[in-house]
Amino acid sequence: MADKVILAYSGGLDTSVAIKWLKEKYNLDVIALTIDVGNEPDFSATSDKALKVGALKALVKDAKELFVGHFIWPALQADAIYEGQYPLATALSRPLIAKLLVDTAQEEGAEVVAHGCTGKGNDQVRFEVSVSALAPQLRVIAPAREWDMTREETIKYAQANDIPLPITAASPYSIDENLWGRSIECGVLEDPWLEPPEEVFAWTKPATEAPDEPGYVEITFVQGIPVAINGQKMDGLSLIQHLNRLAGGHGVGRIDHVENRLVGIKSREVYEAPAAVVLLAAHQALEAMTLSKGQLRFKQKVAAEYADLIYNGLWFSALRRDLAAYVQSSQRFVSGTVRLKLFKGNFSIVGRKSLSSLYHYGLATYDKGDQFDQSAAAGFIKIWGLPVKTQAQIQPLAQEEEPETKDRKEK
Ligand code: ARG
Repeated sequence: MADKVILAYSGGLDTSVAIKWLKEKYNLDVIALTIDVGNEPDFSATSDKALKVGALKALVKDAKELFVGHFIWPALQADAIYEGQYPLATALSRPLIAKLLVDTAQEEGAEVVAHGCTGKGNDQVRFEVSVSALAPQLRVIAPAREWDMTREETIKYAQANDIPLPITAASPYSIDENLWGRSIECGVLEDPWLEPPEEVFAWTKPATEAPDEPGYVEITFVQGIPVAINGQKMDGLSLIQHLNRLAGGHGVGRIDHVENRLVGIKSREVYEAPAAVVLLAAHQALEAMTLSKGQLRFKQKVAAEYADLIYNGLWFSALRRDLAAYVQSSQRFVSGTVRLKLFKGNFSIVGRKSLSSLYHYGLATYDKGDQFDQSAAAGFIKIWGLPVKTQAQIQPLAQEEEPETKDRKEK
C-alpha cells in the first residue's frame, strides 16, 4: 500500500490537480481534508469532487466555531489589523487549517501533509511554519510550488486527466474566503491604478445601490467579545454572519490596499470584510472609553506587533501567546455597547456606553456641574513646562524652530 498524504483541499483547480499529481509524482494516496471556516454553505460537492479525481478519502471538518473562538475573537480583542488596513481573514485561517492537517495526519497515520499554495505568497509560510511548530516530524509537500506549471498548463493538465474544471476556472481572480472576510487577487487588480471592477465583490453592495436611509446597529461586548446585536444575544458565528449581511448591504467593508508580503513583494489586495471592519471599529471605540490613556497607547503597539505575527505565520510562536495573555488581561473592563450608523459605503460610531466607562461627565463638561478644579491647572502647567522652560533658557532654540518674526527680519 502506498503511503498517505493529507492534502488541504479547497475544491479549486490547484488542489484538485494536486490529488492526481501527488499520486503520479510521489506515489502517495491522498486524503483530501476540507476545512469549513465559513467559506461555503455546502461542502458535499467538494468532497464528491475529491473522490472523483482520485482521493482515497475525502473529509470535511466544520471548524467554524473553533475559528471564531480561538482565532477571530483573540484577533479582535487585540485589534489586529495588518498595516492598518487588512483584518487578516486569510492569515487567521491558516494556523487553524494547519492544526487540523496535523490532527488528521495523526488520526490517519500519515507522515506527509500537503497544501495548494504557490511559492510567491504568505500562505505557504503560514502553513509550513505552523505545521513545523505543531509536528516537526511531518513532511510538507507544496505541489503548486514544485510543479512549475502556468495556470494555462494546469488547466491543460486537468483536462488531460479528466479533472472537472471549476466554473471559476474562467475567473481571472484568486479568491480566498472565510467568515472574517474575502480576499481577492490577480487579474486586472494587478494594476494598482485601476479601480476594482464591480464583479470582484460578492458580499458588499456598491454604495450607489445601498439603501437611501442609514442603518443603525448596536453591538454589545463583554470583556472585548461581541455577544449581542441590538440587545439580542447571539452566538459568535451568527453574530458575524449577521453583520456581514447587514454592513455588506450598506456597502460597508471594502478595502483596497497595496500590501507588503512577507516574501518581499508588494501586492495589490482587495478585501471585503463587513463584519470585521465594523466589529474592529466598535471594539476600539469601547476601548477608548474603558481603557486608560496608558493602556491604550501601549495596546496600540501590541496590536501592530500582534497583526504582524499573524500575517507572518507566527501564530504558534511563544511571543504571540505572551501577547495574547496581555491582551486577555487588558479586556477585563471592555464591556458595554457601541452604536454605529451605516450609510452608503461608510459607517461611523455614533454612541457608546459602558458601566466601566472612564468618561466622567462631571470632569468633562463645560456646563454647570463642572467638577474639574480649573485653578489647579495653573500649578500643573508650571511644573509640566518646567523642563522645557529651563532648557530653552540655557540652550536657546535653533532659529528654524522659531517662527519668523518681524523683529528678526529687520535685524
Ligand atoms: N494577501 C492576503 C494574505 O496574505 C490574502 C491572500 C489570499 N489568498 C488568495 N488565494 N487569494 O493574507
